[in-house]
Amino acid sequence: MILVTGATGTVGGAVARRLAGAGEDVRALVRSPEAARLPAGVEVMRGDLSDPASVEAAMHGIDGVFLVWPLPGAAPVVPVLEAVRLHAERVAYLSSAGADPAAEEHGDPITATHSEVERALAASGLAWTAVRAGGFAANDLAWTEELRGGGSVVRTPFPEARRAVVHEDDLADVAIHALTSGGHEGRAYTVTGPEMLSETDRVRFLGEALGRTLKTERTGLDEAHARLTAAGLPAEAVNGILEAHRTFSDPAYTEERHTAEEVTGMPPRTYRQWAADHADAFR
Ligand SMILES: NC(=O)c1ccc[n+]([C@@H]2O[C@H](COP(=O)([O-])OP(=O)(O)OC[C@H]3O[C@@H](n4cnc5c(N)ncnc54)[C@H](OP(=O)(O)O)[C@@H]3O)[C@@H](O)[C@H]2O)c1
Repeated sequence: MILVTGATGTVGGAVARRLAGAGEDVRALVRSPEAARLPAGVEVMRGDLSDPASVEAAMHGIDGVFLVWPLPGAAPVVPVLEAVRLHAERVAYLSSAGADPAAEEHGDPITATHSEVERALAASGLAWTAVRAGGFAANDLAWTEELRGGGSVVRTPFPEARRAVVHEDDLADVAIHALTSGGHEGRAYTVTGPEMLSETDRVRFLGEALGRTLKTERTGLDEAHARLTAAGLPAEAVNGILEAHRTFSDPAYTEERHTAEEVTGMPPRTYRQWAADHADAFR
């Protein structure tokens, strides 16, 4: 049986859905079982990653764990990994493409946390695999607010920002592969989408999936700053996001592409596929 953390989130949700769909035994560790909408067949247990005893209580009968680490800072992961190791051998960890456990300096606190969690995994005695995700295509769900109900314009300060965004099902497939087949221990797989696409390209593809014409409109940085702040993000995160998008807008910017195919042998899902899969969220 696989224990899935973050099962109410983007990638954990895909892991739980795909495992259950394949007839595997799945247990989800969630903070609020009453609010969790999980597929039939997924066993749900209350637990919190900041409480290692609650993780251990969910570990009986578990062989492998899909781990997300949404907490700020990596220190509390050590007792969680100890609790896991009392019962299971394998862990697939949702890391980030920028993670580098060998580096001494990191660009931002989130990447630093992923690198530290990877270091903790390497020291844990577990058979671990890191799935180092590129930017999620699912981040574009932030556009639902503007597009739902017939909206046709996405206002953005960086319409030309280009990334090889990845479908969450591809990340889930790599994690499931690592948990259910051999030979992935101690490996870190970077997983991106197959093509570099600007925000304008992605908005156009969403329009094709919705059957209407959509476009981007350039805004000032002040408007983007105010919007992210109103969404509840702390100042440091707002500045980090805007700075990153400035980098993605540099015509010289590119990302090394490594798709799920390198691990699973299955062709990577395209952004068009993602748009078709999520079109209803934008209607
Ligand atoms: N977004 C990207 O482009 C990107 C790229 C690379 C890597 N990543 C990494 O992917 C991970 C997931 O990111 P996301 O923002 O997309 O997350 P998300 O979909 O919002 O999922 C986060 C999950 O963590 C759960 N969670 C939060 N705190 C918890 C706790 N204390 N105990 C147990 N579960 C807890 C949430 O459950 P509740 O229902 O309880 O809130 C939710 O299921 C992060 O580590 C992020 O750094 C993201």
